[in-house]
Amino acid sequence: MQRKGILLAGGSGTRLYPLTLAVSKQLLPVYDKPLIHYPLSALMLADIRDILVITTPHDRPLFERLLGDGSRFGIRLAYAVQPRPEGLPQALTIAADAGFLSDDTPSALALGDNLFYGADFPRQLREASARREGATVFAARVADPRPYGVVEFDPEGHALSLEEKPAYPKSPYAVPGLYFFDASAPRLAAGLRPSARGELEITDLQRLYLERGLLRVVPLGRGTAWLDTGTHDSLLDAAQFVAVIEQRQGLKIACLEEIGWRRGWIDDASLAASAELHGKSSYAAYLRRLLSEPRPAAK
Ligand code: G1P
Repeated sequence: MQRKGILLAGGSGTRLYPLTLAVSKQLLPVYDKPLIHYPLSALMLADIRDILVITTPHDRPLFERLLGDGSRFGIRLAYAVQPRPEGLPQALTIAADAGFLSDDTPSALALGDNLFYGADFPRQLREASARREGATVFAARVADPRPYGVVEFDPEGHALSLEEKPAYPKSPYAVPGLYFFDASAPRLAAGLRPSARGELEITDLQRLYLERGLLRVVPLGRGTAWLDTGTHDSLLDAAQFVAVIEQRQGLKIACLEEIGWRRGWIDDASLAASAELHGKSSYAAYLRRLLSEPRPAAK
């Protein structure tokens, strides 16, 4: 069974109020495109083409308006809602209950507010996606790991310990919000109990794999950026990061139409139609420019 993707774009985003009083965090701009483009691009770069977007009931129509059925990007998007945010593992049970994941479907769960950028990252994504057994997480070195899931691992990439938001982290490695699970994940998630803060914790799900020696940890190279967008400052940092790279290179980060086109999932005519859809924006101009340049082989 092909691996399927789940993109979790629920939550109330209270730390970003008043920005998120009226609109979901994952719809906020990161420079020239909505935040959700970035984690969606990571799933596409992992060669995942069937993706369930989980949103709040209130925001679902907005996501549908933004992304449609995914055909513009050469993928298939389905939608489900998380009525109340009760923790990240709930995404897996929602996906199973919706019939999106069956007993034999491996999955990748991406958090809708995580942004990755690095030359080697697409290769690491494809490798993680191709691994069939157990779970794979990434490890990103950060100056302060305390707000995150923190993983300790040996040089072979075997996880040794995992803790959610520890006061005294055992390693400087945070676990970013992009996880690869085998087909047993929804069943394991359904058996989890809420933590002291009253939520199902993704680290508890990962620990069930760790305990069986089935949790693989892939460190991101230092040339790969992992940015999170949980505060006003980190949201602005992410926007500036994207702006600096895009303006310098003249290439866009997380342009979903471009990824689908370079992979051969959509043809030139679809790309041209997307350019029309984007009006007079620089995004439209970019899509048109792609069509006028020689297309390098997909990587
Ligand atoms: C969640 C996870 C945490 C992970 C982080 C990545 O935390 O619980 O393990 O490191 O996402 O963004 P949250 O940001 O929801 O507090």
